[in-house]
Amino acid sequence: MRFVVTGANRGIGLEFVKQLTARGEEVDATARDPGDAPELQALARPGVQLRIHPLDVADDASVAAFAEQLPPGPVEVLINNAGVSGVKGGEPIDPADILRVFNVNAVGTLRVVRLLLPRLREGKGKKIVNLTSVLGSIAEADGGRFAYRLSKTALNMATKILAEDLRGEGFRTVALHPGWVQTRMGGGAAPLPPEQSIRGMLRIIDGLTAEQSGRTFDFQGRQIPW
Ligand SMILES: NC(=O)c1ccc[n+]([C@@H]2O[C@H](COP(=O)([O-])OP(=O)(O)OC[C@H]3O[C@@H](n4cnc5c(N)ncnc54)[C@H](OP(=O)(O)O)[C@@H]3O)[C@@H](O)[C@H]2O)c1
Repeated sequence: MRFVVTGANRGIGLEFVKQLTARGEEVDATARDPGDAPELQALARPGVQLRIHPLDVADDASVAAFAEQLPPGPVEVLINNAGVSGVKGGEPIDPADILRVFNVNAVGTLRVVRLLLPRLREGKGKKIVNLTSVLGSIAEADGGRFAYRLSKTALNMATKILAEDLRGEGFRTVALHPGWVQTRMGGGAAPLPPEQSIRGMLRIIDGLTAEQSGRTFDFQGRQIPW
């Protein structure tokens, strides 16, 4: 099956590509700067179906160029993983940071979906997976982190809209919370190794049902309330 994974040069995206290529899937992986993505490049060994493309999801022209240069043929599963956390600490309400994070996490995901939809429609998989966070849940929110929380709440709504708009075409669209994972974003205190988080999320993605479409789950399959 052919997967697209964004933000794959490190962290959760990189681990998705590791596990997908290890089980023999075809993967189009993206990095803002493929020339500075040594761990991702190292996965592109002979016999591995991995192509690496430049993509900045915050930039219309970059997304357009990516969609145009993607080799022809159907895409079965799109994993929208690229994301930023925003400034931690500092000014509690920082309008510039809120807009920057929103542009990557919420609008960036939709930029990619919009231009890859024709490819996803060609495929049989018809799965769109958006990496969200429990921090975007209104029901479970405590304070702080305006930029990140707002962006992920919007992403959850985008997931729901896509799920409903595309349900009739057989699409399954879901938002997944990876847990608190040991990546640059997760930081040193994060308890969860990427291997475990991604194993859990792939189990959910592989078995995704129409009934689950439009909802948010964590990597263990717990449904997260809006
Ligand atoms: N780690 C956690 O505990 C945790 C928890 C909840 C949700 N998440 C979500 O999981 C996803 C992956 O997070 P992570 O922990 O792997 O973070 P990470 O280690 O900081 O990696 C983020 C990835 O996104 C890419 N990226 C950032 N801005 C981009 C842009 N404008 N266009 C394209 N790619 C861009 C980064 O590329 P560069 O190297 O070029 O910056 C990097 O590849 C994010 O959506 C995050 O919100 C993570």
